[in-house]
Amino acid sequence: MRHAVHAEKMGYDGIYAAGIEEGGHPLNDDVTTMLAHAHALPKRLKIPVVTVGGIADGRTLAAALALGAQGVMMATRFVATQECEVHDNIKQEIIRRAGI
Ligand SMILES: Cc1cc2nc3c(=O)[nH]c(=O)nc-3n(C[C@H](O)[C@H](O)[C@H](O)COP(=O)(O)O)c2cc1C
Repeated sequence: MRHAVHAEKMGYDGIYAAGIEEGGHPLNDDVTTMLAHAHALPKRLKIPVVTVGGIADGRTLAAALALGAQGVMMATRFVATQECEVHDNIKQEIIRRAGI
């Protein structure tokens, strides 16, 4: 929140707000995407917020928009696609765990 408010003050056009659900290198602050968006970010900022972390389908997109985000960024959702070059075992495990 502190960094987001500072970014706005410094003149940034918008921010990406990532909760700990995100793949890759999440922060250590234990703030979830839902928590950050439901209680803080879009309400306190005038600049657009793009939601990041755990957005994987239409329902989670709708949730982000309902909480005030202007858009979403997705990454893990695309790991199990043909275009992604990770090993097929990883793709199959993602599909198995997601129950797709
Ligand atoms: C395999 C993988 C590697 C990633 N590597 C990086 C990285 O090196 N640097 C970075 O800033 N974000 C990285 N990310 C984070 C993504 O850019 C993105 O912010 C995040 O994964 C979005 O959340 P989602 O995975 O829940 O959709 C990575 C994500 C994944 C899935």
